[in-house]
Formats: sequence, C-alpha cells, structure tokens
Amino acid sequence: MPVSKQVVLQKAAQFYSESLAHSADAMSYLQARSLPLSVVDDMKIGYAPNEWDGFVSTLNAEEQAAALEIGLIAESNGRRYDSFRNRLIFPIRDEKGNVVGFGGRTLTDDTPKYLNSSESDVFKKSQILYGLDLAVKSGRKHLLVLEGYTDVCGLRAHDINTPVATLGTAFTEQHAHLLAKSNVKHVTFCFDGDKAGRDAAVRAMDAWAMLHEAGVEVGCVFLPDGLDPDEFVNSRGREKFSEYFQSNRLDAANSIAKLGVDRYLSYGKSPGLDAQLNCVAYINDLCMTADVSVERVRAAFDANPAFDCVQHSLLSQIDEFRQPPLE
Ligand code: CTP
Ligand code: MN
Ligand code: MN
Ligand code: MN
Ligand code: MN
Repeated sequence: MPVSKQVVLQKAAQFYSESLAHSADAMSYLQARSLPLSVVDDMKIGYAPNEWDGFVSTLNAEEQAAALEIGLIAESNGRRYDSFRNRLIFPIRDEKGNVVGFGGRTLTDDTPKYLNSSESDVFKKSQILYGLDLAVKSGRKHLLVLEGYTDVCGLRAHDINTPVATLGTAFTEQHAHLLAKSNVKHVTFCFDGDKAGRDAAVRAMDAWAMLHEAGVEVGCVFLPDGLDPDEFVNSRGREKFSEYFQSNRLDAANSIAKLGVDRYLSYGKSPGLDAQLNCVAYINDLCMTADVSVERVRAAFDANPAFDCVQHSLLSQIDEFRQPPLE
C-alpha cells in the first residue's frame, strides 16, 4: 500500500476515534443501540463531526490527494471537503488488522444509511470480512458470517467473539478463501430475518461447495422474521441466542429444503401446478449451485416435521424434474 494512503487511513482512524467522546449525539446513539465502550474500543468505533473540513484541514497536499483517491474527502468547484459528516464510523480492517477503509452510519434518517470508503486498490469490499482480524485472534475455529457492522458489534457486546460480516455484499469466493486461509473449521451463515437476508443466503449457496472443498464445514441459521442478529441477542439475550443457534443450524440439504418451503408458502394456501413446478425448479437449482444431491434434500423434507406443510406430491416431482428433457 502506498505510504500516503496508509498514513491517511491511520490519521482518519485517529481523528474519528478522538471525535467520538466529544459528540453527545454519537454517545447516546451507541447507548440506544446497546453498544458498550468495550466494543467501541475493540472495533475502534469513531465519529465524523458535523463539519465540512474537520478532517481535510488536518491533511497536507499529498495526503489530501491520497484521501481523495480513497474517498475520505471529496472535491467540488475546487473546494475539498470531508465525505463523512455526522456519522458513526466503523473502521474496516483487513485480516491482519490494518485499517483499509471506513463505513459511516448516519445518526439521523439521512440517505444513504451507510456511506463507505470508495473501492480502490486498498479497499475491495469483496475481499474483506469485517471483524475477521479479531475473530481469528480469539483462536476460535467456528465463525459466524453476518451481514453488517452493527451485527458484528452487537454480538461482540455479548461476548460472542466470532462474528464477521460481508458488509452487505454477496459472500464471494475470495471470502471463502480468506476463511480457509485463516484456518477456520466451521462457518455458520446467519443473515437478517428479512427478504434481503434470505436472498443473501441463496447467493451464498455456491460458497458452500467451495468451503466444503477447502475443508470447512458449513451451516446456516435463519433468524425469525424481522430480526437482525444484533436485535435478536439484544432483545432475547446471549443464552437464548445460542439455544436458537444450536437448534436451528441447518446443513446444506436442510437449508435448501427451508428455502424451498419459503418459496412454496409464498404462493399462498394451495399453490397450483405452475407454482409447484417453479418450487421444484428452484430446489433443483439450489442443489446444483450448492453441489448437494436432491436425494439429500428429499431426506431433509422427510426428516423435518417443519417441512410437512409442503405437499408430498411436490417432492415426488423433484426427481422427475431432474431428468433431462427428451430430444
Ligand atoms: N450497507 C451499505 N450501504 C447501505 C446499506 C447497507 O454498505 N446503504 C451494508 C452495511 O455494511 C450494512 C450491511 O450492508 O451493515 C447490511 O445492511 P442492513 O441490513 O441494511 O444494515 P444493518 O447493518 O442492519 O444496519 P442498521 O442496523 O444500522 O440499520
Ligand atoms: Mn437487512
Ligand atoms: Mn441488517
Ligand atoms: Mn440492523
Ligand atoms: Mn414428511
């Protein structure tokens, strides 16, 4: 990494960190979200003041050029100003612990909700797992893959020190590689209990095969509707969270069955033939993507009473559908 960018990232982390305690709004925001000082310290959470030049005014010309490139400052009509203003700042570190970028959450209802460092040679979102440096340092071999900054911080606040987050992007091959390289043995995906979270679980399906190949055992936990991981642990406590985890962790075949059931139920009370065929095709696609045999998914349907809502006629079609069409 070029020296000037490294210096700017360090300076920014320091600047945001020192600004936090001076902001009553930021401090009360942390409190409202049940984020204690221990986590602020761990994750080096900071605050970007509500000013146009708080940070840029601390940089010399060379540093400003670097800051422009990585998106910490911006320029308009020849004037340079801070990109992050009145936002809670989450420094993003790579697996070695070097700060490579920042995510900034608005304290108000501003859009976007999160502003992130721009993609550059130092910050590539698809190659970063937020929290990985600390999770690996903890020595634990079972990591939880979540969606967001506050999920990682929220779990850490309850002494669960193994969460990492994809920061809203798909879980990529590079992410799988990072985990395998970090000597992780088990991974559990646990995305938000909403549409986007279930889509993330679907998109992570092709990572299952990659992780599996790399010797990592994989599972998935689907949260109750409307809850993010941090909301779950904050509202129900650590013990309930780990109970839920233990009894709801699904392997690949069961995850596919669960996603198939969700699709099936989305058609209402008694889905017609088109809807059923659509479900079957969906299940087959997921099997292909995750490299799971349809027989295992059928077995999952049979073994789990929660999946009984699906008509058995649907299941008998899964195999038939798989037959290649006749010429
Ligand atoms: N994200 C982003 N930009 C956005 C929205 C989301 O970069 N405009 C990323 C962030 O890393 C965020 C993650 O995607 O943490 C998950 O998004 P979401 O579930 O919407 O946010 P939460 O992390 O749940 O944020 P909060 O609890 O603060 O609302
Ligand atoms: Mn969400
Ligand atoms: Mn979320
Ligand atoms: Mn959330
Ligand atoms: Mn059954």
